Amino acid sequence: MIDTNPTVSAEMAEELRQVIGPRSVLPQAALSTHTTFKVGGPADWLCLPETVSQLRDILSWINKVGTPWIVLGNGSNILFSDDGFRGVVIKIRGARPVDHTLWHLSHSGVQVRVGAGVGLARVASYCAEAGLTGMEWATGIPGVVGGAVRGNAGAHGWEMGDVINELEVLTSAGMLETLQRDSLSFRYRHSGLASDLLITGATLSLTEDDPSIIRRRIQEYTEQRKNTQPSADQSAGCMFKNPAGESAGRLIDIAGCKGVAVGGAMVSPLHGNFIVNRGGATSKDTLSLIDSIREKVRMETGVELELEVRVVGSI
Ligand code: EPU
Repeated sequence: MIDTNPTVSAEMAEELRQVIGPRSVLPQAALSTHTTFKVGGPADWLCLPETVSQLRDILSWINKVGTPWIVLGNGSNILFSDDGFRGVVIKIRGARPVDHTLWHLSHSGVQVRVGAGVGLARVASYCAEAGLTGMEWATGIPGVVGGAVRGNAGAHGWEMGDVINELEVLTSAGMLETLQRDSLSFRYRHSGLASDLLITGATLSLTEDDPSIIRRRIQEYTEQRKNTQPSADQSAGCMFKNPAGESAGRLIDIAGCKGVAVGGAMVSPLHGNFIVNRGGATSKDTLSLIDSIREKVRMETGVELELEVRVVGSI
């Protein structure tokens, strides 16, 4: 039996609303509208901080009321349960860069300072205009900087960890700390960052290059992505991690899973490692399809696929 009672009462939430503003604390927010896969039931509370100071207020309130919480960026690498999330979802995402917010973006020389809530595509285009190379690979990735750092997102042979110089994080006790690159342990789709640290921003170390050459590289990557990935469809990106030296998409393809569907969830006919929402997909559909893909790949190739997408909530 799933407990659908909110973990925080409206009275307790009112306290936070008084501090950070009523429009920044929303009850019963449909997570399907905050994820790229468009799946997920309601979150008890959705918090929309704009500044580090508001984020600190939210954390201090969470510590007081003692509720589960989770940070969301663009919701591009996550599968929420149809029952939603019992607790607080903190969404850190800005539509465009603004100084002194969690989505600031500026540079000095080859160092780019960026807030956790800036979209990766925005960072890529900003760096291209500034004549800085090193972020072109991120151009078609729908996530934000915070999520990309946490999961060490990557494409075209590059990873977020390649360009990180420093990270700014908030501890669960509300302390703002700077982590130097050598204290981080990036590896494939892994940052080694403790789960209770909230990423608020990063400094990227890039290299000067001709803006027209950088823009051409971005165009090439965009074209490549358009031809090989279902970018226009609703998905959570690549569903599985690539096994060492292999492509999960290729293995899923060999196992004959492309086009296979459960309810509204279907394996993309274009790229095997994407599950697309062809309308009305549920988390149950998706998990059932994931199980069946894993089973088929195991039978056909002997490889056990590991999820890249984070699955959250009781399914
Ligand atoms: N392939 C197939 N069938 C498929 C898919 C791929 O045969 O259905 C083959 C391709 O033809 C190619 C090889 O597998 O020979 C590799 O495919 P691709 O270049 O598409 O790269 P990938 O390994 O499937 C990885 C990342 C992507 C990233 C691309 C491009 C992972 C899990 N995936 O995909 O990242 O965009 O490289 O650099 O690491 C993500 O992490 O969410 C993601 C989409």
